[in-house]
Amino acid sequence: MKDKVLSFFGLGYVGLTSAVCLASRGFKVIGFDADPQKIELINSGKAPFYEPQVEEMLREAIGSGLLSFTHNPSEAVGGSDITFITVGTPSNPDGSINLEQIKSASTQIGQALRGKSEYHLVVVRSTVIPGTTENIVKPTIEGYSGRKCGEGWGLCFNPEFLKEGSAVKDTFNPDRIVIGEFDRTSGEVLEELYRGFYGDEMPRTIRTTLVNAELVKYANNAFLAMKVSFINMIANLCQELPGADVEVIAEGIGLDKRIGPLFLRAGAGWGGSCFRKDLEAILDFASKKRVELPLIEATLEINNTQPYRMVDLAKGLIGDLIGKKVSVLGLAFKPDTDDMRDAVSIKVVEKLLEEGARVAVYDPKAMGNAKKIFGDSVEYAGSLDDCLRDSSCALIVTEWEVFKKLTPKDFIKLMKVPAVVDGRRIYKAEAFSPNLRFAAIGLGERGTAIQR
Ligand code: UDX
Repeated sequence: MKDKVLSFFGLGYVGLTSAVCLASRGFKVIGFDADPQKIELINSGKAPFYEPQVEEMLREAIGSGLLSFTHNPSEAVGGSDITFITVGTPSNPDGSINLEQIKSASTQIGQALRGKSEYHLVVVRSTVIPGTTENIVKPTIEGYSGRKCGEGWGLCFNPEFLKEGSAVKDTFNPDRIVIGEFDRTSGEVLEELYRGFYGDEMPRTIRTTLVNAELVKYANNAFLAMKVSFINMIANLCQELPGADVEVIAEGIGLDKRIGPLFLRAGAGWGGSCFRKDLEAILDFASKKRVELPLIEATLEINNTQPYRMVDLAKGLIGDLIGKKVSVLGLAFKPDTDDMRDAVSIKVVEKLLEEGARVAVYDPKAMGNAKKIFGDSVEYAGSLDDCLRDSSCALIVTEWEVFKKLTPKDFIKLMKVPAVVDGRRIYKAEAFSPNLRFAAIGLGERGTAIQR
């Protein structure tokens, strides 16, 4: 067992994934969450969300005795050397960040530190707007512990860059580690922990101020979302140009090392729990400082309307949608997750319903979450085939592997009118266009391939 004991406040995607990964490499980890039912569930070996590998690793970690859970925050802090704050930082209705969970975790940690004599490091890993660690977390802990930061306890901000669907892989192979530190000792303790975890494969590490580390996280997410919105903007231009194909443009610019090939997949838009929340939070923060962030505004704007292009393409293929069965393939915001937060599928389905279509939906993992969102306004297909049967148009909204395997024949066999709108560019136009009605985002003219 490694010498430092760790605790996590908040057992969501980031907290639980990090906890099981650390335990898998011999660290003793204590998990705490404000929701007692969540603790019960996790303690029984079940992850409250679907994420590859996490549940298996959770069971192993519980079995090995390295991972345990408590309902008592003081026990978590008292029994550990380093506490990670991994609570949620959701949006308020006006887009500003809601820091209530950060405040309550800081309060609990402060109370627990009052009675602790050994050195303790607190590491904020939740995404928080610049200044939060210094101006909210630090004074709250100082107030409740009665001890100044740097005197027996330290503080870091350490952003995570995990992607859902590959969170475990990303934890083991990060591009870099960014450590914002209140003082040198705090940074040393955290860097030492990561050296123990990564051994010879220690990623490049940046040590900096708290505020820089906080801003790195926002700039990172804003840049990634901007890259996708950029290529979607180009896709919308391609659509009007006979013979143009955004895939070729993405390849052409992606080979420029200054641009790079990743996050240039054009499609129906980006979704997920982070991008919109973080972009809106930093916009709100900047506007309160009277700073404009026009690129971030444009990034959001492009994404707001991108899903509707799917519906326009469908109408281009089959005319008006009134009373027609339309199949939506893929509901999760991306493959390998059941997460539908801010998923593009929500806007696509709402628009299809508005246009009078009968909407049938299918997703390999997200049907449960979909029912909570769409209620009885759509048909929930029991299988992919059921979703396509007698349909007049199929829209690919999430690029699940199982959809990639479909051939023109499959669509022709099952559908009333074989028409496909490829919102994730998973099919070759050469194979689909000659055989059925086919349109794709970023494929000119108006999304339909020209015959070669
Ligand atoms: C993102 C960041 O990548 C991660 O670093 C951060 O910690 C949390 O937010 P995540 O939301 O899990 O991670 O998913 P990501 O893989 O980044 O995809 C976000 C959205 O962008 C998805 O809807 C995806 O379909 C879309 N996307 C991504 C594209 O449309 N095209 C691309 O080229 C890449």
